[in-house]
Amino acid sequence: MRDPARRPLLRRGLAIGAAVALLAGPGSGAPAAPAPVGTPTARAPHSVTYDGYSFLIDGRRTYLWSGEFHSYRLPSPDLWLDVLQKMRAAGFNAVSLYFDWGYHSPAPGVYDFTGIRDIDRLLSMADSLGLYVIARPGPYINAEVDGGGFPGWLSTKPGDNRRDEPRYLAYSDEWQRRIDRIIARHQFTNGTGSVIQYQVENEYFDNGPDGRAYMKHLEDRAKADGITVPLVGNNNGAFQTGHAALDVDSPDSYPQGFDCSHPATWRGVPDISRGRLPDKPLGTAEFQGGAFDPWGGPGYDKCAELINDRFADVFYKQNIAVGATLQSLYMTYGGTNWGWLGMPQNYTSYDYGAAISETRRLDPKYHQDKLIGYFAQAVAPLTKTDPLSAAPTDNAGIVDTARANPDTGTQFHVLRHADSTAVTRDSAHLTVDAGGRSYTVPQQPGTALTLDGRQSKVILAGYDLGKARLRYSTSELMTDAAIGDQDVAVLYGDHDSDGETVLHYATRPTVTATDGAATDRAATGGAVTSTWDPTTGDLRLNYRHTGLTRVRITGGDRPLLLLLADTGTAKTFWRQDTAHGPVLLRGSHLLRGAASDGTTLALTGDVGTDGAIEVLGPAGALTWNGTKVSTHRTDTGSLTGTVPTAAPVTLPALTDWRHTQDSPEARPGFDDSGWRVADRNISNSTTGPVTLPVLFADDYGFHTGSTWYRGRFTGTDAETGITLTTQSGGGAAASSAWLNGTFLGSSTTDGPTTYAFPAGLLRSGGDNVVSVLTVDMGHEEDYEASNGNKAARGLLGASLLGAPPGAVTWRLQGNLGGETPVDPVRGPLAVGGLHGERAGYMLPGYPTKDWTPTRLPATDPTPGVSWYTTTVPLDLPAGQDTSLGLTVTDDPSRRYRAEIFVNGWHLGNYVNYLGPQHSFPVPNGILDPHGTNTVAIAVWNLDGSTGGLGEVALTAYGSYASSLAVGQNDSPRYDSGRYEP
Ligand code: GAL
Repeated sequence: MRDPARRPLLRRGLAIGAAVALLAGPGSGAPAAPAPVGTPTARAPHSVTYDGYSFLIDGRRTYLWSGEFHSYRLPSPDLWLDVLQKMRAAGFNAVSLYFDWGYHSPAPGVYDFTGIRDIDRLLSMADSLGLYVIARPGPYINAEVDGGGFPGWLSTKPGDNRRDEPRYLAYSDEWQRRIDRIIARHQFTNGTGSVIQYQVENEYFDNGPDGRAYMKHLEDRAKADGITVPLVGNNNGAFQTGHAALDVDSPDSYPQGFDCSHPATWRGVPDISRGRLPDKPLGTAEFQGGAFDPWGGPGYDKCAELINDRFADVFYKQNIAVGATLQSLYMTYGGTNWGWLGMPQNYTSYDYGAAISETRRLDPKYHQDKLIGYFAQAVAPLTKTDPLSAAPTDNAGIVDTARANPDTGTQFHVLRHADSTAVTRDSAHLTVDAGGRSYTVPQQPGTALTLDGRQSKVILAGYDLGKARLRYSTSELMTDAAIGDQDVAVLYGDHDSDGETVLHYATRPTVTATDGAATDRAATGGAVTSTWDPTTGDLRLNYRHTGLTRVRITGGDRPLLLLLADTGTAKTFWRQDTAHGPVLLRGSHLLRGAASDGTTLALTGDVGTDGAIEVLGPAGALTWNGTKVSTHRTDTGSLTGTVPTAAPVTLPALTDWRHTQDSPEARPGFDDSGWRVADRNISNSTTGPVTLPVLFADDYGFHTGSTWYRGRFTGTDAETGITLTTQSGGGAAASSAWLNGTFLGSSTTDGPTTYAFPAGLLRSGGDNVVSVLTVDMGHEEDYEASNGNKAARGLLGASLLGAPPGAVTWRLQGNLGGETPVDPVRGPLAVGGLHGERAGYMLPGYPTKDWTPTRLPATDPTPGVSWYTTTVPLDLPAGQDTSLGLTVTDDPSRRYRAEIFVNGWHLGNYVNYLGPQHSFPVPNGILDPHGTNTVAIAVWNLDGSTGGLGEVALTAYGSYASSLAVGQNDSPRYDSGRYEP
């Protein structure tokens, strides 16, 4: 695995060369390429441009608050909508999408963009939600996926990857042409979608002549394919200028690295602005939103703790402090390395400790992202700022990094600890020059601004809060909007902390506080006092952040409603914008959408156990998930009501298991005449064969999961054993060997293992068969552009001890169909080559009546593979989004591993002795919450004593009354005509 410390941004900062001509592109006003054939009728011409401050969309400066999502890690298209709605609800206005070449291409020239691979559908969904798309098609993506996104078949081809190499480029062109066709028709610039950027390659740092020629080739391909949006990169600035320069080349930054085992230990904030160019906007193509976790690692809860809400608070605001107007958080929803999708180092879950968990729950960080996202969307002056030299605070332990908008004068004072890792509680006063005056903030005697441990605050000053002018506020602004006849703003601060907001008015306005109308703060805690200075026109509100206090100020150009909240309460607000104006909702679990036709405000969303809501929005009747809500109007103009809550979920136990042994390949008499003969003596792999012939699984068309080998030799009595060199990759390697049907043993490390032949087993003068089960845990990434994906999998060599080389003839077999998978719906990375997989045991409808009834937990001393299966009917509450999974519980000393299938989909690689993953989410769409589900588990016992299978149970991760409706995937059932008998 890569050492994060070697990441170029951390290692050498931003590499920026001398400025040369920019690439022609939309950003530089070049004419758009003709629309590709099949483009839907354009709505109107649109533009995506940029300058030194920000991207401009149709000429409007836009703060891009973006999150990374991989549809291939969520094999249920209706759940894409769930994730994208959750992102939109948290204020994300953009989504960054990698497209995984290998996920779409089982063989050269063969591409699939249907079903769970329907990128058209994904891009239309993003557009319909108002999410801009940063499209990242590679060809290389890294992303902790198999081969870094390179197809399995590419691992066998000659020619260096990621170079100006005609053989490689012929293949990458093929991919780009296919994916670009889809991306092009969803471009914002064509008026037919929301794609606003196209990323070329991924973290490509070779900006020498060869690397630049390669990049130029990819860029030219994209343009020839009709890509007219800005071409961007995440190469830490290597391609900001010079030949093959991109429109904008931004840094990636993972300041905490990827070891989640010490989640409380922080590294300091980076400065992503180092080396920025004056004519290009500053942003992060990827900024840490979590971390991946290796086999045997501490688990994703720890990653969520390392990259927690406090991390988001301090680090994302630091990026604001240095002027970033694009932040893309990697990952915002991580998902699942289902099937054989992942790289070998990681296990099935790619939860990433992200803001939205693999089980689709909202992590506390989600709400912190929401606070920042709403702020960045609401406060338009943030999109154009210059550094402002602010006077130091009166506490050297707290720094104020300030910026100001040159047109509006709006200031952003970003406060954090000087030592950004500090956990102390410190207070300070800062100096704010606003409206021609200099303020020491806060002004109230005996109060100060406090940072409680790892925390950051953006103090806003000189801002038009609707029709009122904000001098400054020590509360942070979550959002503001004109709603109905008033301007509304949500301001927040730590629970029980002092707040102070100063507004400028020409004449003294009237201040009414509700929910604590008394003016004696000492007595009520939540109350507000106000002071008026007629000489300056300053209205100062003094208050404490406790729960929610509403302050209505009238007498200015428009009434202003300030919702003063403690941070916990602020997080209960949701905002959506409708054709008839914005909506602020307090309460519910999630506000997915809002629409207004002028007479009815239709809200959709999720509710757990608390149905109380309060809405500020366009006038009219209110519906929630299509049902009318009876409401009460409050004196601040909001509507209150109650919406239906979620019903409890009860889950059935998994019973009636059936079991069958299934390693026929180990039996001496097994018919392997249909298997591929290992007959190659050369390979394009980067791994040198240990013995000949070449035994690498990939070279015979098997790129995923298990591959069996059978080696035949005539015994002479001299053979004493065999040395087998195997390579699974990653931290969960495994192989097992048999001689003439007798188990020799297993290895759980890559490399050579010598098995002595037990006395009396060898048939002298007769046929002997060595059977070997191997597993490909995924192809290596190619981070260094050194053909990493071409490292071999399976058997690397076999030496019969006591026999001359070449005495054994080998055959091998992997997944059914090889590069033409028999099940194109589940696709190229879905299954491996176990006998049961080739026979269709995992599929719904497979006849198991001859299998042995059993119950779990079970013990089984037979080494090798056996299968457990059962069906489970579900009848979960209707109108509810319930997230379910399967949890395996067992004593880790038992040496077995298991592949977990639900309704034919491989959703878990479980390694009992290694972990850390025990619970495997099953997405709805694959799981049928209102029907019968088939669970099939292939267990591989690595020894002859501790095998079997532990307890297996359904787990509910959360259930909400919801507008989300999930259709069932096409899940092909068992078909005896397709699978092996
Ligand atoms: C970046 C890379 C991503 C992903 C990430 C770590 O370097 O561009 O693809 O690998 O690191 O999760």
